[in-house]
Amino acid sequence: MFKRRINRAIFLCSVLLSANYCKEKKSTENLRPQIHFTSQKNWINDPNGLIFLNGNYHMFFQHNPFGNDWGHMSWGHAISKDLYHWKEKPIVLREKGSIYPRMKFSGSTVWDSQNTSGLCKKNSACLIAVYTEWTLLNQTQNLAVSHDGGFSFVEYRDNPVIDENSWSFRDPKVFWHHKTAQWIMVVAKPSASKIAFYASKNLINWTHLSDFSAIKSSEGIWECPDLFYLPTVGNPTYGKWILLTSVAETVRGSYMQYFVGDFDGKNFKKEPSPGDAKILDYGYDFYAAISWENLPPANRVIVGWMNNWEYANSLPTYPWKGTMSVPRKLSLLSINGDYRILQTPEPQIEKYKRKIRSIDKIFLDEKKIRIPLNQSSFVLESQFSKITAEEVGVMLKTADEAVVVAYNRKTGVILVDRGKMEKVWLAKKKNLFTISEVFIGRHDKIDFNIIVDKSTIEVFALDGQVVLSNMVFPKEIFSHIEFYANKGSANATKIVLSSITRGSP
Ligand code: FRU
Repeated sequence: MFKRRINRAIFLCSVLLSANYCKEKKSTENLRPQIHFTSQKNWINDPNGLIFLNGNYHMFFQHNPFGNDWGHMSWGHAISKDLYHWKEKPIVLREKGSIYPRMKFSGSTVWDSQNTSGLCKKNSACLIAVYTEWTLLNQTQNLAVSHDGGFSFVEYRDNPVIDENSWSFRDPKVFWHHKTAQWIMVVAKPSASKIAFYASKNLINWTHLSDFSAIKSSEGIWECPDLFYLPTVGNPTYGKWILLTSVAETVRGSYMQYFVGDFDGKNFKKEPSPGDAKILDYGYDFYAAISWENLPPANRVIVGWMNNWEYANSLPTYPWKGTMSVPRKLSLLSINGDYRILQTPEPQIEKYKRKIRSIDKIFLDEKKIRIPLNQSSFVLESQFSKITAEEVGVMLKTADEAVVVAYNRKTGVILVDRGKMEKVWLAKKKNLFTISEVFIGRHDKIDFNIIVDKSTIEVFALDGQVVLSNMVFPKEIFSHIEFYANKGSANATKIVLSSITRGSP
């Protein structure tokens, strides 16, 4: 009986092979990152409900329990002691209803330690999830309660807690605002490109406070907001409020922006600083990031989903699809009346790095310098100084593919080029979404901290002022690195190459 089924599957596969059907189903464990979260099986997108409680970092996430494409949205769950080594746990919130489905869209969790909601039994382990319930015609904000510190949730019986009769109203992020002693919710009105602010004393009754939008900001829809205070580097008593939003449009695809300003418990007022909205990550694959709640105040850590809605469903991985980024610690740099977020990999990554090689200095002039690598998960730290060359950079090479990370001094641009990698998954879009870049102007010195984990590449430059995150799907292991300087010279200095090994933390 079993044998007959296998034979039938093989027969069907050979018939359908031409339609690429069976090929797609081949397992791609070789592309599964080691210290970036992926679910064992099936589709994931946005991180949800990030919170630290009783020694565990909790990460919930948008998840399809039944397949490797978007659909049946539910909340998956994983925990970690250090943000890099994750254990997947059972799903906590599921889609309900088959004829009239009600999906669980993105949202956040808070620790209701004072039982402000009156819904808690054990205050030490009472988490309230605030999420969007999606139905075909309406999106509402709902609650679910956990009495066991986030391992299981029960939907609140009097849901929804906010219903504006809107089909475009989602992704609530809630936090406790100390100054006004109330819960604040930031929630997106995607099609209006607006963020709405609500307040509540008990998480159940909410009052609308204000809306924020930005003229001259992008045309796309806004999703997944977050709002938090960040102290400035070098002056911890002075800080600013940061409003993060994800933006989805068809030209650039999905990306994230942020506004710097002040929040008084009612309105967010952005700084009149030049440039208006700023870009959080210049790669093609960093979206829907939000921050962990309940960490010490100066410790703001975010994680994003490494994908882009323009091609999200066609990533070539199986039986899983969707990867979270490296967790990033944020700080705020104040430069001449303007502000910029700095992002650095959360420092617990150090535990997973094993130094393979360090080189103090290589002089580069036209000739390429090759260093053997033979790794698929690694960190490359390097600096280029005394740059007179038109372009300096590194090529990460497999037998016949390459990813280029470069600084072009002539155009003033940092770029990541995945054009020499397998691009079939980009299908008709393969001439788009290839080179991601950011203009930084003229520098004589530049630093790159490059983290590659099987199918992810995250480039942190200028001490984290600039980040570019992209997915890549190499056919083979990265065999070597080439350092180069074109049309001129430069020194490559402070080169440290480390492998990433997951092991046990
Ligand atoms: C962002 C998003 C959210 C929504 C979720 C659905 O990627 O579109 O706005 O809640 O995904 O999965």
